[in-house]
Amino acid sequence: MPRIVRPTAYGTPEVLAVADMAVPRAAADGVVVRVRAAGVNPIDWKVYSGAFHAVDDSHKDAAGIAAPMPSIGLECAGVVTETGTKVTGVGIGDEVIVYPVTSAYADYVAAPATSVFRKPAGLSWAGAGSLLLTGTTAVHALEAAEVSTGDTVLVHGGSGGVGLMGVQLAAARGATVIATAAERNHQLLRDLGATPVAYGPGLVGRVRAAAPGGVSAAVDFAGTDEALDVSLELVPDRQRIASIAGSPRRGEAGIKLLGYGPGQDAGTEVRATARHDLVERAGSGELRVVVAATYPLGEAAQAHRAGLAGHAPGKLVLTP
Ligand SMILES: NC(=O)c1ccc[n+]([C@@H]2O[C@H](COP(=O)([O-])OP(=O)(O)OC[C@H]3O[C@@H](n4cnc5c(N)ncnc54)[C@H](OP(=O)(O)O)[C@@H]3O)[C@@H](O)[C@H]2O)c1
Repeated sequence: MPRIVRPTAYGTPEVLAVADMAVPRAAADGVVVRVRAAGVNPIDWKVYSGAFHAVDDSHKDAAGIAAPMPSIGLECAGVVTETGTKVTGVGIGDEVIVYPVTSAYADYVAAPATSVFRKPAGLSWAGAGSLLLTGTTAVHALEAAEVSTGDTVLVHGGSGGVGLMGVQLAAARGATVIATAAERNHQLLRDLGATPVAYGPGLVGRVRAAAPGGVSAAVDFAGTDEALDVSLELVPDRQRIASIAGSPRRGEAGIKLLGYGPGQDAGTEVRATARHDLVERAGSGELRVVVAATYPLGEAAQAHRAGLAGHAPGKLVLTP
């Protein structure tokens, strides 16, 4: 029987449970995909943590599951098993990347054909299933901060899923990249073309030493007060600071706020447009998807615990 992982209540990863699912049917303009890899992203545990809204799980369905609970899993890669009547250009048996999608923590997923991209042969399943959420977010941030040749850009959270994309894509734009990370991740950042600096007290001084000519732009993938304060101190033009984290202080700082919260720019078009290029770059090997660990579908809770605890650099991926 095909399986799906879903939260059964609001809380910590213990609320995740594996349930049986019916194989979905393709909409006329959609496909069904047998999932081979589903990227794990912080949003996946944030949606059932209760962080986004008041929690009311007093209404339970027949199976005792609080309803309605959010679905989880926004990206995946797999093999097409059905196509809708209006779909052209993709067929049964094709290996594809799917983003955005919902309920990707599953053996099968239904998706609109507009979310489907052919998986490059040289890209692993795990890399393909975890490329696009972080990749499109990084592109949006670099666009918002107007990063290009000749810039020196400070990347906060450079060793995270979004950060590793941001570091590589900024370097590919011809920028000099300074990236914050824990010491254990510095060699990886050097390998990807960045100068690593440790975050924590004294960060301003370390960045100044690494970039004596100054910092022209900053992208904040860490969301800490320190990342905001250091960016404000070092970047002369606040419109060249972009953050993917929302916070009251960020809202008042005159910087660019990116994402799906109040006052943030979702960047729908720039993110959608970026997908094709990201798939090509990852397929050619120009863009590396660093996979930290893979987990069987039934171990989604372990993957979330690892994500919450902080983990080896790169993506966590479920492999149904
Ligand atoms: N707004 C949007 O559209 C959007 C989209 C995607 C993600 N996000 C959010 O952006 C954040 C990053 O996402 P992600 O997928 O990259 O997460 P991730 O893979 O878990 O990476 C987070 C990184 O933060 C770093 N970090 C931890 N403590 C830090 C500190 N005090 N200062 C600086 N860096 C620190 C860690 O680096 P070390 O391991 O080196 O310590 C870690 O690699 C999450 O909060 C996520 O929800 C927002």
